Amino acid sequence: MPLDLPSPLAERGKGVRQMSRLRRALLFMPGDSIRKIEKGATLGVDSLIMDLEDGVALSQKATARQTVVDALRSLDFGRSERLIRINALSTPFFQDDLTRTLGARPDGYVIPKVENAQQVLYVSHWLDVAESDYGFPPGAIRLIVIIESALGVINLREIASADPRVVALAFGAEDFASSIGATRTAIGTEVLYARSAVVTYAAAFGLQAIDTPFVTLQDDDGLARDAETAAQMGYTGKLAIHPRQIVPIERAFNPGDAAIAYARRVLAANLEQQSNGTGVFELDGRMIDNPMVRTAETVLMRARAAGLIREDS
Ligand code: COA
Ligand code: MG
Repeated sequence: MPLDLPSPLAERGKGVRQMSRLRRALLFMPGDSIRKIEKGATLGVDSLIMDLEDGVALSQKATARQTVVDALRSLDFGRSERLIRINALSTPFFQDDLTRTLGARPDGYVIPKVENAQQVLYVSHWLDVAESDYGFPPGAIRLIVIIESALGVINLREIASADPRVVALAFGAEDFASSIGATRTAIGTEVLYARSAVVTYAAAFGLQAIDTPFVTLQDDDGLARDAETAAQMGYTGKLAIHPRQIVPIERAFNPGDAAIAYARRVLAANLEQQSNGTGVFELDGRMIDNPMVRTAETVLMRARAAGLIREDS
């Protein structure tokens, strides 16, 4: 019987996410607020999301598109990735959101309330045509999709594997909770299944996983705990809604000094054991074998990507 070889998409997965661009904190800014966009551009955050969707009143959609275009044309965003969140494909707004903003060449779009692969393919095909019309490099415009409904969760597999433009899956807990009739709690049991599903499918297809925003603005301890939980679950970043959230989020997703030191010890011990022909051994009273070695490699890869340790170390 022939071997069932993995597809290129699954191959891309293999537990190693796309690390070419770090997306720890992704800061939302209402698209109609030039003041916030100007401020956001100065913060040096990994990604900025200029919102045309729920953060913008119905009467301000056209103004917001123009504000975002002007900002993209005139502001220096430094190292920050420039993303635009369009309205959902079930609304009359999303087509204008795309056609009116593409010429200003954002780095990517964030699509909310995605429920099936067709929606991703529709936007991606539209971008194929637009890139060719504008003479942009084909496939350069990236997509991040937000999973925030029951249907989105049960169709995760087809969504995650829909299109190579998709670099990350984001989880939207508020909309998800409302889609299943759940009440939000501090501990988050009501969204645990969906939150776990998003990170699992993202990993399976080599995508980054971006956690839901923490909406209690003044609760710094709550934010730190929530971001830490997301990082422990395997998320690679988290949506942010206020500048004060950026540092705590980055801290949660950067490997700490102790984690880096431990990862180095695991790898060094593994090298020594492997050269003696041993695959499993004990370190600090714990059994170490292949999965722990892989985890240690991931910690160092993230630390390198975050500039915490040198490329060659
Ligand atoms: N991006 C950039 N700058 C922001 C910001 C954001 N998301 N949120 C606040 N700021 C700026 C403010 O403009 C202010 O700067 P200034 O003093 O120079 O004017 C400073 O940070 C302090 O803001 P603060 O007064 O604490 O907050 P606010 O009352 O102005 O705004 C919110 C509170 C929640 C409305 C605001 O944080 C916000 O718009 N967040 C994003 C909401 C969003 O996009 N939601 C949709 C996705 S969930
Ligand atoms: Mg939402």
